[in-house]
Amino acid sequence: MKLTAADIVIETLDTSGPLPMALLLLADPSEKMIQSYIYRSRIYVAVKAEQTIGICVVSTDDADHWEIRNLAVEEAFQGQGLGQLLLQHVIIEASKHQVPHLLIGTANSSVGQLYLYQKMGFDISSIRKNFFLEHYDTPLVENGIPCKHMIMLEMTLR
Ligand SMILES: CC(C)(COP(=O)(O)OP(=O)(O)OC[C@H]1O[C@@H](n2cnc3c(N)ncnc32)[C@H](O)[C@@H]1OP(=O)(O)O)[C@@H](O)C(=O)NCCC(=O)NCCS
Repeated sequence: MKLTAADIVIETLDTSGPLPMALLLLADPSEKMIQSYIYRSRIYVAVKAEQTIGICVVSTDDADHWEIRNLAVEEAFQGQGLGQLLLQHVIIEASKHQVPHLLIGTANSSVGQLYLYQKMGFDISSIRKNFFLEHYDTPLVENGIPCKHMIMLEMTLR
């Protein structure tokens, strides 16, 4: 069953309180990496019946290029359209702030995510070669593919 905007509330989360680390780790297996960007980002959370079921962390350091650093949906709610609702929310927020470019990165091995982001209108813009080999301690494998490079996708908003 699909979730609609009426089923959830998307709120901004203040980093002074507890963070939904288990949710963040679904999208980024390195807590060290999460700590490096979370405190200088906007955090949007999807809440359903007082439960945080989705998150989208957006780095806004560069006013012309907001970058989605973490997007995750609780496993029980995946595949129900929430990832798309969160992405849509961030696209609208970036447009409201007159941000010209929105970026998102994913691994060369994340074939489902590459499908989702291109379906949402993001276009492949660059490759950060060996990003995962250089920034993560443990070798990562996904869909039987070694996770090595970060594929960057971009959406032009104006
Ligand atoms: C990736 C993620 C955020 C997507 O959120 P979601 O709510 O599951 O996605 P949605 O239901 O909105 O849409 C997913 C679409 O991609 C497709 N898809 C295919 N493989 C997929 C995969 N491995 N992961 C997600 N979506 C996939 C779905 O079929 C769907 O397409 P459709 O609408 O045409 O049927 C979520 O699955 C998740 O948290 N995954 C684990 C963390 C993660 O990988 N984060 C991204 C890191 S780059």
